[in-house]
Amino acid sequence: MTYKNFDVYTLIKPEILKLRNIGIETANLDCRLLLSKSLNRCESLYNHQNILVSEIEVKKFQSLVQQRLNGKPISRIINRRNFWKKEFELNDDTLDPRSDSETLIESTLEQFRDKLQFLKILDLGSGTGCLGLSLLDEYPKSEASFFDISLKSLQMVKKNAHNLGLSKRSKYINLSWKANDWDIELLTIENNTKYDVIISNPPYISTDIIKTLKKEVKKHDPFVALNGGKDGLDAYRSIIPKLRNIVKLHGKIFLEIGKEQESFVTSIAKEHGLSQKGYKKDLSGVTRVLMFIIK
Ligand SMILES: C[S@@+](CC[C@H](N)C(=O)[O-])C[C@H]1O[C@@H](n2cnc3c(N)ncnc32)[C@H](O)[C@@H]1O
Repeated sequence: MTYKNFDVYTLIKPEILKLRNIGIETANLDCRLLLSKSLNRCESLYNHQNILVSEIEVKKFQSLVQQRLNGKPISRIINRRNFWKKEFELNDDTLDPRSDSETLIESTLEQFRDKLQFLKILDLGSGTGCLGLSLLDEYPKSEASFFDISLKSLQMVKKNAHNLGLSKRSKYINLSWKANDWDIELLTIENNTKYDVIISNPPYISTDIIKTLKKEVKKHDPFVALNGGKDGLDAYRSIIPKLRNIVKLHGKIFLEIGKEQESFVTSIAKEHGLSQKGYKKDLSGVTRVLMFIIK
């Protein structure tokens, strides 16, 4: 194979123009990430760096840019996303983690200040595992169980746990919170040990609204990770009634919510023996996390 020496910017400039023409403001960064992926590099590339590239690699780069031109999000092309302090791999069955969900990590850190304490953590609806794994990274003596209906997403959690050196403290549980006795099944798997921390970003978008979302979201994020049913609250109705049975007496529950869902979720929680002890807004000022304890 013959390799030629290129200045990165010279190579990516025509592709940057194509992306800019369709309104992609991050065209330069996107092209550098896609070139990096084509060269199987982990590190970032700089505009004025010299690199050796083969013709096959140039073709691969151009085909990745074409995927971007067709509307595929960059994280779905490179199958990676930075969340909190680490990089997570994605697959077609996992939600692409959102920075708003980092509010859940912030809330937990505020409530559990001693990083060296042992916490038993449940990540309910774990996707890539970005929530539970970020907590395991912050609390090096703790353990987390990852619960998801999707086996393929649990496989992704397993891979991310391995990549981050967190496998020994991770457990994978393939259950559905739609099952009647999911709490009993869960406790059986856990030898009746309850949790200090339950963290969850459940699907909370109303089915009708999903149709109106940007193509990038509705086409590439799994429906099961988005769909909250008619009014967006189905997952809360399945999850909340069981939380009292699986959280320790002094444990805390952190739930992500969508815009304007606060009063509805709080009232479901009240009905089922929980009281709201705090909330946290995301960077846009929207109430994103509600914290509950046993009443
Ligand atoms: C909004 S995503 C959150 C993923 C990840 N925690 C994050 O924040 O990026 C919701 C997750 O809940 C899972 N899920 C949906 N319905 C479920 C059910 N009935 N039982 C268990 N998990 C479910 C989905 O597979 C998805 O991984």
